[in-house]
Amino acid sequence: MLAVSCASQSDHQPLSGLVVGDVPAPAERPGWVRVHVRAAALNHHDLWSLKGVGLPADRLPMILGCDAAGVLDDGSEVVVHAVIGDPAAGGGDETLDPGRTLLSELHPGTLAEQVLVPSRNVVAKPTEMSWAEAASVPTAWLTAYRMLTTRSGLVGPGTVLVQGAGGGVASAAIVLAKALGHTVFCTSRDPDKRERARAVGADVAVASGERLPEKVDVVIETVGAATWEHSLRALRPGGRIVVSGATSGMNPPAALNRVYFLQLSVIGSTMGTRSELVDMLALIERSGIRPMVSDVRPLSDARASFELLERGDVFGKLVLTV
Ligand SMILES: NC(=O)c1ccc[n+]([C@@H]2O[C@H](COP(=O)([O-])OP(=O)(O)OC[C@H]3O[C@@H](n4cnc5c(N)ncnc54)[C@H](OP(=O)(O)O)[C@@H]3O)[C@@H](O)[C@H]2O)c1
Repeated sequence: MLAVSCASQSDHQPLSGLVVGDVPAPAERPGWVRVHVRAAALNHHDLWSLKGVGLPADRLPMILGCDAAGVLDDGSEVVVHAVIGDPAAGGGDETLDPGRTLLSELHPGTLAEQVLVPSRNVVAKPTEMSWAEAASVPTAWLTAYRMLTTRSGLVGPGTVLVQGAGGGVASAAIVLAKALGHTVFCTSRDPDKRERARAVGADVAVASGERLPEKVDVVIETVGAATWEHSLRALRPGGRIVVSGATSGMNPPAALNRVYFLQLSVIGSTMGTRSELVDMLALIERSGIRPMVSDVRPLSDARASFELLERGDVFGKLVLTV
């Protein structure tokens, strides 16, 4: 079958290790199901893997990809849940299982004609969603949903700042935060992306680092070093930063004086549970919101999608179809 693999890793030239070619189809495994992929989506995670972050070199070659939607052998249409973990080992939450992995970290990923996943790792695809839309939600959208719900501490409508509006998680957070009833502020370095952010529901979009008209309850942070100081300054006393990524750097100054004087909380968040995926798909169906799909091309043309991902020249998801 055709698949997109990481054959070698390079921090400076991550795409040098990308291989699009034929590999054996996955062998049957008790308790696992075969998904015939119709569409798969890229995430920054795939670039990290090519750079050697989170994917040990002794597991190469590895089929990349966390996100997919497809059809089971019995014809059911499904969305793949990317977190492979045991809820019991995480106190009822598979994201807290110390042994949990994402597809493509230990088990072959979704950028292929077929992917094998544990039977609990598929959920029904909403019929109104296209294959490309359904493939866009398992990682970026689920991450944004958990950040805004379980991890944000928000119980009613609040004010939310989303940093780096163009990103996969960030653009999802803007749309989901509006659907959840919040007032949404966002930043982006790019005027076009700020315009796009307003078009999908942001109430206010400003340039990265620019002062906001008011302090916010919660910051959704995936950019890291480039926006961290602004995130701390944007919060009201007692506010929360929910952080799930650090694309621009992992180690910004902590500014502990601001954290304790203003009694801020810094909350980590990673992916989401199967039941959060089901809840989010129900919200998407109920509210009529849809993932923004920036680019769709065949699996065989994956290199061009990775080039777009690397340049950061996108608003929304990059999708490959089978
Ligand atoms: N923990 C988890 O479960 C989880 C899940 C998904 C993603 N992540 C992580 O979250 C991060 C974002 O992932 P993604 O897939 O959404 O990535 P992405 O689509 O590549 O988006 C990254 C965004 O960050 C902003 N950005 C990048 N460099 C910047 C800089 N120097 N200054 C200001 N803004 C900058 C850009 O926004 P603008 O161009 O609009 O300024 C860009 O669109 C990654 O680090 C990823 O590994 C974590």
